[in-house]
Amino acid sequence: MLLLALLVTLLLHTTNAVDQTKFRTCTQTGFCRRHRNKVPSNTYTAALTSSSPDAPYKFLLHPSKGYTSTHPNLSLTVDPLSNGAVRVRVQENNPETSRWESSDILLPAGLSRCASTTHTSDSSSVTISSTCSSSDPPTNTVISLSPFKITVKQGDETLMSINESQLFHFEHKRDKGGVQAATAEPSDTKADHHNGKKIVGYWEDGLARYEDGTTEVKPVEDASSIPKEDEDGFWEEKFQSHHDTKPNGPMSFGVDITFPQKSTRLYGIPEHASSLALHATRPPPSGSASSQAPKYKDPYRLYNLDVFEYDLDVPMSLYGSIPLLISHSVDTGRVSGAFFNNPSEMFIDIWSGEGMGSHWMVETGVMEIFLLVGGSEVSEVYKQYSSLTGTQALPPMFSLGYHQCRWNYKDEKDVYAVHKKFEEHDYPYDVLWLDIEHTDGKRYFTWDKRFFPNPVKMQQTLWEQGRRMVTIVDPHIKRDNNYYVHKEATAKSLYIKNADGKSDFNGWCWPGDSSYLDFTEEKVRKWWAEQFKLDKYVGSTPHLHIWNDMNEMSVFNGPEVTMQKTTTNLQGVEHREWHNIYGMLFQRATSEGLVLRSGGKERPFVLSRSFYAGSQRWGAIWTGDNAARWDHLAVAGPMLLTINTAGLSFIGADVGGFFGNADSQLMVRWMQSGAYQPFFRGHAHHDSARREPWLFGDEALQMLRQSSMERYALLPFWYTIFHTSSITGMPVMRPLWMEYPTDPNCPALDHQWLIGSDLLVCPVVQENAVKVNCYFPGTNQNWYNVRTMQVQPVPASKWVNLDAPLDTIPVFQRSGSIVPKKLRLRRSTEMMRNDPYTLVVAGESATGELYIDDGHSYDFENGEYAKRRFDYVGGKLTNTKLSGNWGANGTCKDWIERIIFMGVSSKPSSVVTSAGQSLEFTYDKNTLVVRKPELGVVDEWTLEIL
Ligand code: NOJ
Repeated sequence: MLLLALLVTLLLHTTNAVDQTKFRTCTQTGFCRRHRNKVPSNTYTAALTSSSPDAPYKFLLHPSKGYTSTHPNLSLTVDPLSNGAVRVRVQENNPETSRWESSDILLPAGLSRCASTTHTSDSSSVTISSTCSSSDPPTNTVISLSPFKITVKQGDETLMSINESQLFHFEHKRDKGGVQAATAEPSDTKADHHNGKKIVGYWEDGLARYEDGTTEVKPVEDASSIPKEDEDGFWEEKFQSHHDTKPNGPMSFGVDITFPQKSTRLYGIPEHASSLALHATRPPPSGSASSQAPKYKDPYRLYNLDVFEYDLDVPMSLYGSIPLLISHSVDTGRVSGAFFNNPSEMFIDIWSGEGMGSHWMVETGVMEIFLLVGGSEVSEVYKQYSSLTGTQALPPMFSLGYHQCRWNYKDEKDVYAVHKKFEEHDYPYDVLWLDIEHTDGKRYFTWDKRFFPNPVKMQQTLWEQGRRMVTIVDPHIKRDNNYYVHKEATAKSLYIKNADGKSDFNGWCWPGDSSYLDFTEEKVRKWWAEQFKLDKYVGSTPHLHIWNDMNEMSVFNGPEVTMQKTTTNLQGVEHREWHNIYGMLFQRATSEGLVLRSGGKERPFVLSRSFYAGSQRWGAIWTGDNAARWDHLAVAGPMLLTINTAGLSFIGADVGGFFGNADSQLMVRWMQSGAYQPFFRGHAHHDSARREPWLFGDEALQMLRQSSMERYALLPFWYTIFHTSSITGMPVMRPLWMEYPTDPNCPALDHQWLIGSDLLVCPVVQENAVKVNCYFPGTNQNWYNVRTMQVQPVPASKWVNLDAPLDTIPVFQRSGSIVPKKLRLRRSTEMMRNDPYTLVVAGESATGELYIDDGHSYDFENGEYAKRRFDYVGGKLTNTKLSGNWGANGTCKDWIERIIFMGVSSKPSSVVTSAGQSLEFTYDKNTLVVRKPELGVVDEWTLEIL
C-alpha cells in the first residue's frame, strides 16, 4: 500500500504541465451548471417584516414567479454597519434548519450596527438611510420588493446592486423524496385560514395579514404550470473515479452583484494565475452589448487546491480564496466592493456591459454579503473590509529580509556551507529554510538524525550571526502508532472523520497514509499550538519559525487532490461547508503556537500556501509551485497585486521559479523583481539544479547581491508601510489605480506597481529585454530615478521606454515624498538594528513617515514605538512626533547619518540645524547630500537649507 502511495506521489510530481482533467470545470459541477442555466423569469418578492431600530431590517423573501410552491420562505436581513458597509444575509426562514457558518472569520467589532439609521417605505420599496460611511451624503440601501433587488446609493450615485439581473436563486434545504425540510407553507391560496389563524387580507406584495396583526407570505400560485426545478446533480455527483454522495442534497445559491455604468474594472477574488483586472467570462445577462468579449469560457473558481504545475491565464482555482470583489470607476475615482463571506466552493462569472457585473454561484452555506460602500478615498473600502476580517499583522523585521530556501538543504553540513557562502560574499540574507526532507520520515516536529543530528546547535550557530531558520510543518499527520503526534491526536480524537462521522479519515500525502487534524475546532488549534513549545518540539529554538504547506488540504488520492466533500469535522459538519478556511485556520493555530512558545512576547512568522479572507492576521503567503520560466516571472506581479488588492499584503512568489532550472538572466531579473515584492524568498524543487546566488558566476552574483542590498536598504520604508497597513488595512504593494483612481491609463496596468504610494517599480520580465515600457502616473508629478537621483523626463503620453540593462531594475521615487533608508551594507536585519538612517527627500516640498520599534516583540502595543513625520517645505525639514513613546526615557539612540535632497535647483550657501549648527554637505546635479547631521530620530528638530 505504501509503495503504491509513493508511486502515485512520484507520478503526481514528475509530469510537466497541469493535468486540467483532474480539476472540475463549471460544466462538471452540478450547482454551477444549475445556476449558470437559471431560468431568468424565476423571480422573488420581498416583504418587510421587522424594522426595529435595535435589530437588522428583516424581510421575508418568497418566490413570486416561476417557482414551485414547495419552495419555502427565506429570511433576508439588511443591516447598515457602523463601519459604513451594509450587511445582507439570506437563508431559510427557520432557525431550526439554519445553515452552518464559521465563527472564525469575522471580527465581532466589525459587525457593530450603524446607530444612525432610518427608513421609509412605499408599496414598491423600502429605503434604509444610514450615515455611518465617512463621506456625505447618507448611504441609501433601497430594497425593491417585487421583483426583489437591493441597490446601494450614495446621493444620486448608484454604487452597486444585488439581484439587478435577477439571477438570485436559492436551493432550500430539503429531504430526499421531495419533502422539504424547511417551514411549512400555506398551501391553499384560497383558504381564509392558515395555521388556525384568520386571514384578513393580502398585501399587494404577497404578505398575508392575519387577524392578530401578524403577517406571513402569501402562498405562491398554482404549481402545476411551473417548470420543475432543474434537479441535475441534486443528490449525487461523479467526477473521475470519485463519487460525491451529497447526503444533504442541494443547498446552493446564486446571485448577481452588479456595479453600474461607471464601473471601469473589477479586481480581486484571488487566487488565479491571471491578470489584475478580471476578464469577462460571459456576456451581460441583460442582453446588452458586451464592452469586453468574454475571454474565459469558465467562471473564476474559488476552491483551494494543490494544482500541480499550474497553467497561466486561466480562471482555475489555486491554493487560496478571498471572495472579495473590488470595483473601480475612473469617471468618479470611486472604489467600492463586495465581500462574499462564505468558505464553500464557489464560481464567479464576470461580465462587462453597462458597467461591470458578477454572478456568484456558491455550493452551500449562508448567503452573506458585505457591500463595501467605500467613500471619497480609496482607503475607505479597505477600512471597511479590514474592520471585518482584520488588517495585515505587523511582521517581525527579519521576515522582511531575504529568505533562502530549497527542497532540500540536505544536512547540517549543507546548511553550514550555504550559510558560510552568504557570509563570504557579504550577501544580505536573514533566514535559511528546511523543507520536508529534514524530518524523520515526514513526521513533522522530528529530525532525520542521520542528517540533522544537532539541530539546536545548527540554529544557534546561525543565530550567532543574526540568522534564523524555518522548518516545514504540514497538516497531514503520518499514521504511525509510534509517532507521538499521531498517537496523541488519535487518542484525543482530533482528526477529521469519514462521512460516518466516527472513523478517522485516512488519505495519502508525503508520509503515505495520513490523517488530518480538524483545525476548524478550537480545542484542536489549542492542542496544535502546544506542539510548538520548546520542550515538545525537540530540537527547536526560539529562532526557529514555521512554514505551513499542503494545507488546501492536499490529499494525493482524493478528488481534485483534496479531501472528499462528505468527510466531517468534529462537530459533524461536512467538509463541503468549510473547505476554503481550513488552510487559514491551520496557519492561525501555528501562529498562535509560536506566540505561545514565547510566552506571548514574540511576533510569529508563519508562511502558508493556502489562504482565505483574514489570513492577513496570521502571517505570510506565497503563490506556490510556479516555474523557472519568463511567463511565470511575468505573472507574479499581477498575482501579487490581486492578492494585495484583496487585503493580504505579506505575499510573494518563489524567486527563480519552483520547477525547472533558472539561468542567470532569469535569476537576476527575478531577484530584482522579488526584492520589490512584499515577501522575498528564493526556493526551488529538488530536481532543479542548485541555484544559490554564487552559482551563476561573478557578474550575476554581483547583480543578485545588489538586489538584496537594495531590499535591505529600504527595510525602514517597508516596515513603515507594513505598520500603516496594520492600522489602515491599505495594501502594501499597490496597483497604480489605487493611488491614481481617475487616471484612465491605470486600471489595467499590472506589470508595474507602487510600494505604498511613493516608489514606482517597473521590473523587466521579458527574456533579453534591456528596455521596459513604464507608465508614469499623476498630473504634474515628477518621479526621481532612485539610482541616478535625477528626475525622469516624461512625455505627454506619460509612457517611457526606459533603459534597463541586466544590472538595473527601474525604480522611481515620487516627488513630494520622503523615504527612510539604511545604507550601510550589513548581512542581516539583526546586524542593521542600530544602524543610522538616511532620509531621501524628493522635490521642493515633501512629507514622509518613519515607524520604528524593537522589530520583534508586541511591546509596540503598549506604546513602545515611534511614528515620526518629516516635512520639507520652504527649505526647512522638520521632524515631528506622530505617536508612540519609543525613546521617551532617552533609550532610543537611533540617529540620522545622511539626508539626501533630490531636485534642489541651486547649490545652497549653508545648511543649519535649529540649534544653529552648520552642517557639511555636497551638491552635484541638483542633488544635495547633507552628511553627518547626527540628528536623533525621535527628537524634534528643524534643518534649514539657506
Ligand atoms: C509543495 C510546496 O509548494 C513546495 O514549495 C515544497 O517545496 C514542496 N511541497 C515540498 O514540501
